[in-house]
Amino acid sequence: MKKKLIATTSEHFKSVFQHKPEAVFLSPGRINIIGEHLDYNDGFVLPAAINKYICFAVSVSETDECTLVAKDLNETYQFNWRDEIQPLDKMWVNYMLGVLHQLKERNFSLKGINIVFSSTIPMGAGLSSSAALECGFGYVLNKLFHLGLSREEIALIGQQAEHTFVGVKCGIMDQFASVFGKKNKVIKLDCTTLEHEYHAADFKNYSLLLIDSNVKHTHLTSGYNTRREEVEAGLAIIQRRFPSVKTFRDCIEEQLIELQEELGETLFKRCHFVVNEIRRVNEAVYALDRNNFEALGKLMFETHEGLSKEYAVSCEEVDFLVDFVKNEKQVIGSRMMGGGFGGCSINLVEKGSEEALFEKISQAYFEQFGIQLNRYKVKIAKGTSKVKKKIKN
Ligand code: GLA
Repeated sequence: MKKKLIATTSEHFKSVFQHKPEAVFLSPGRINIIGEHLDYNDGFVLPAAINKYICFAVSVSETDECTLVAKDLNETYQFNWRDEIQPLDKMWVNYMLGVLHQLKERNFSLKGINIVFSSTIPMGAGLSSSAALECGFGYVLNKLFHLGLSREEIALIGQQAEHTFVGVKCGIMDQFASVFGKKNKVIKLDCTTLEHEYHAADFKNYSLLLIDSNVKHTHLTSGYNTRREEVEAGLAIIQRRFPSVKTFRDCIEEQLIELQEELGETLFKRCHFVVNEIRRVNEAVYALDRNNFEALGKLMFETHEGLSKEYAVSCEEVDFLVDFVKNEKQVIGSRMMGGGFGGCSINLVEKGSEEALFEKISQAYFEQFGIQLNRYKVKIAKGTSKVKKKIKN
């Protein structure tokens, strides 16, 4: 599939620009094992890049003109990179212009560029197609124009692009996972310092099954930004009473309970989720390192419960997916993944049982909601990279 994506993107480039691309790049989507809505809460997360990609075929142009071609949407956007850059009403363009804007702010000198890109990352499924687009584009510009940016800077620029040109106040997890992914490794990322360590993603007799509810979301209109405001308000109340609490990481459940009335029902629930999720990530890494998959799976179920009931970022359809598998003994863990409000559930299931399970759940889901499910088989892959092989055609 990767080869096909590279070939079709390169061919399309050739048919649009009448010459071969100068280089081709791959920028992956991501999964997250556990640690949801923690990246903007000074927590830890456990994501990994996957073998679903946005492929960029590129060349430097002779002028200052840039041509961006979104092959899958059959849309093109042309502009001069020296002109003032502002967000438009075309979302895919904004992810890219946002990155360019960040680079211009840092006074990098660029040139015109021709790009065709195409993707195998489903959109709105919680697999971070946005981060793959932002960071992939940043990576391309960094390589083509020798900007000398580190991977960390590319991830941060991607995040800033999303804040400023898309309007979603996302954390750093998606960008970081896309850029820093390693084959067969999950990344334990400390979202305060960006220190990170890789852990083996070997689930032995279990596999990860992604089930897409096909309920699409955009975090611009979901409750994502509101959640950020709520936890900030909650933390301010906690800090007023307990000045030693600098971040949620320093906060313990007993302190929250003491403040329950002052926080009020909503803020209490939001903060309660965050404090417990931080604990769960550490327990999950401990379990993973010891091949204790039952413990890991149990934590995933607990995370879902918190995301659904306390953080309120799930939806009826994804709750159904998780509730359904609680009765299937081949499934030892399940939860919504990513920002929420739709998208995928991630399931830890006995190897070999995926097909039958998916059939069963698809039928029940269709009866309930009249929606077809999708499933994705993913492998844990390396982060953003330049395709090394010589480009044929
Ligand atoms: C989205 C955001 C991330 C993160 C997740 C929830 O994917 O882009 O920064 O907050 O939601 O964990």
